[in-house]
Amino acid sequence: MRPSILITKRLFPETVAFLEQHANVDYVPTADGLTSAELIARARGKQAIVSQFTDALSSEVIAQLKGLGMIAHVGVGFDNIDVAAATAHGILVSNTPGVLDDTTADFAFALLLAAARRVTEADAFVRSGQWKRWSLELMIGHDIHHRTLGILGMGRIGQAVARRAAGFSMRVLYHNRTRVAGDFAAWVSKEELLAESDFLSIHVPLNESTRHAIGEAELRRMKPTAILINTARGPVVDEAALAKALAEHWIAAAGLDVFEREPEVHPALLACPNAVLAPHIGSASVDTRRKMTMMAAENALAALTGKRPPNLLNPAVWDSWASRPEGAG
Ligand code: 8YV
Repeated sequence: MRPSILITKRLFPETVAFLEQHANVDYVPTADGLTSAELIARARGKQAIVSQFTDALSSEVIAQLKGLGMIAHVGVGFDNIDVAAATAHGILVSNTPGVLDDTTADFAFALLLAAARRVTEADAFVRSGQWKRWSLELMIGHDIHHRTLGILGMGRIGQAVARRAAGFSMRVLYHNRTRVAGDFAAWVSKEELLAESDFLSIHVPLNESTRHAIGEAELRRMKPTAILINTARGPVVDEAALAKALAEHWIAAAGLDVFEREPEVHPALLACPNAVLAPHIGSASVDTRRKMTMMAAENALAALTGKRPPNLLNPAVWDSWASRPEGAG
């Protein structure tokens, strides 16, 4: 029997077509996607769902996904999914690691450059007709080259950011639970990272130990010339404290791609000219987004055809499927 898959919101047509070759597909073609109640209703009778960041797959929702075998998530971060609850209900969960590292690192650097050299302010200045004369201090900003880049969270994306810093002759420091091999960056304590960084770029996943990892106390420890970059998850930073830090110049600027209550942005941040703001587009290149959706589709289909999905977050569920007398699939 052909398996049934729910795609919870708009995907690329070729990814939908690929899934349709192998499964009956219930496709939600809108960018808004589904409410939790709609998702629960539409998932009934499906063996897999292809989910995205805006699907809140809490333990309450997961408990109602009866008969579901697989959540194939489009994205590397999976804080919107209660993986422990999925595991408890015997539901496989996969994500899309690796394919978006360089693209997200490029965007972290785009924000870093834009915030340091005031690119968005300069653009608005020219467009609004305020440019009347050239002057020595016009849109004067901060150097990037030969400065210190601090990386909080040295996983694949953090390391990709560190590699880019070499081209700017930067010194790279990082703080991470575990140390990484190589001499391209030096491990320091979180306190040292805050005190030493001219640029602090966040690359930790969101979980209970990283929520508000950067709050008032941390911002006050940073240099007044420092620039904070966040392409990870909004709640890692206390947005109200950051808005205060930017308005009162405890730090110089910020480049933010993620927010605590997306798509809402703290009104005080909107009022800060020294904040460069983007709508969660770190991985948004044509090639990378296509790779992410295909990777999720391949994970879903693997599970449904009895093969081990390559990017499982809870492999123990697969092991228990595979050890059933009837096997996996
Ligand atoms: C995606 C992301 O846009 O992969 C992630 O964790 O934050 C983004 O790259 C998002 O997850 C898509 O669902």
